[in-house]
Amino acid sequence: MELNKLPEVLLLGPGPSPVHKRVLEAMSCHTLGHLDPDFMTIMNETTELLRYVFETDNRITFPVSGTGSAGMEAALVNTLEPGDKAVILVKGVFGERMAEVASRSGAEVIEVKAEWGQPVEPDALEKALSANNKIKMVGVIHAETSTGVEQPLEPLAKLAHQHEALFLVDTVTSLGGLPVAVDKRDLDIVYSGTQKCLGAPPGLAPITFNERALAQFEKRKAKVQSWYLDLSFLTRYWGDERFYHHTAPINMIYALYEALKMIKEEGLEKRFQRHRFNSSALISGLSVMGVRPVVSEEYRLPSLLAVWVPEDVDDIEVRSRLRREHLIEIGGGLGPLKGKIWRIGMMGNGSNQTNIERLIKSLGKVLNELGHKCSIEEALFTSQTRGQGLV
Ligand SMILES: Cc1ncc(COP(=O)(O)O)c(C=O)c1O
Repeated sequence: MELNKLPEVLLLGPGPSPVHKRVLEAMSCHTLGHLDPDFMTIMNETTELLRYVFETDNRITFPVSGTGSAGMEAALVNTLEPGDKAVILVKGVFGERMAEVASRSGAEVIEVKAEWGQPVEPDALEKALSANNKIKMVGVIHAETSTGVEQPLEPLAKLAHQHEALFLVDTVTSLGGLPVAVDKRDLDIVYSGTQKCLGAPPGLAPITFNERALAQFEKRKAKVQSWYLDLSFLTRYWGDERFYHHTAPINMIYALYEALKMIKEEGLEKRFQRHRFNSSALISGLSVMGVRPVVSEEYRLPSLLAVWVPEDVDDIEVRSRLRREHLIEIGGGLGPLKGKIWRIGMMGNGSNQTNIERLIKSLGKVLNELGHKCSIEEALFTSQTRGQGLV
């Protein structure tokens, strides 16, 4: 395969999202040594920019080498050890994954479940916390990518802290696209991934720990079972000491650095508004085409829209034709929602009016050809007026 002949596919699935040329160019800059003085400046500025997007003053804030799952694993293995108890809120694939990773740390895991497509209610967490003593940590997915649900965080953080538990949050599909507000919401351990709303390729997992989480880390009895993800080593490299642990993925850090600079240039508030505005515009247009949202407006994620596949068309046929004939990728459903929903990403650079119009036109064409009759003009008009109404 010749890489320079790869087609430019419009990535409107659950991630990765489209990567801006500036970020791709940053990746092709000269590779420096991982202890080079210029690279150290880039490291310092990257952690400062990460504090900006996380909205935190946490001193321990850095990108873990690895994808979002490495962030999940780093957060959990450094927080939990054998003998601990953790409550994990499960309402989709990534909550299930968090429970699985937590259980591998040797901790006892208590799952609090909600129906897929719904958030977890604070009452359900309160019950679990009252029924079990000495819960060390409560973990939750902020933006459940398998269902398109945004989980309200404040009530859960409050409950966790009332019961003296740490509150750990996965923001893989939210950071940089909707407010995460680590300090304001009093979130203790938070991680993300670079390939969604941050607008870089997959490969790094930004993470942040507050002083409450670090105090618990200091009290650990057992060694962190992962040598690669042990916070005490990683912070020595990302802190003043610059102690060698593993060779940092230099060019991937250039990509994150440039993507974060672009976020700062746009401004967080404007960026959040853009994500809200575009997802609202897109869902209005799709609804006119008979492609309806799975999640009620209150909990609908701006970064990832889950929509029902119309009953008169086949999921895979529509997605394959979109990719083959229109060079657009959208995602299918996972687990119990396989074949029933599509997952459409409106993340990072992908969240814009041009992409909305291209998707409506292309999906409308495929649906009409397959016998699901709908008006593309009406969908475009509705999405544009809905969008204008929101400005
Ligand atoms: C909410 C959430 N958590 C964790 C992950 C895992 O991230 P990765 O696939 O980058 O390892 C994903 C990936 O889509 C996700 O959406």
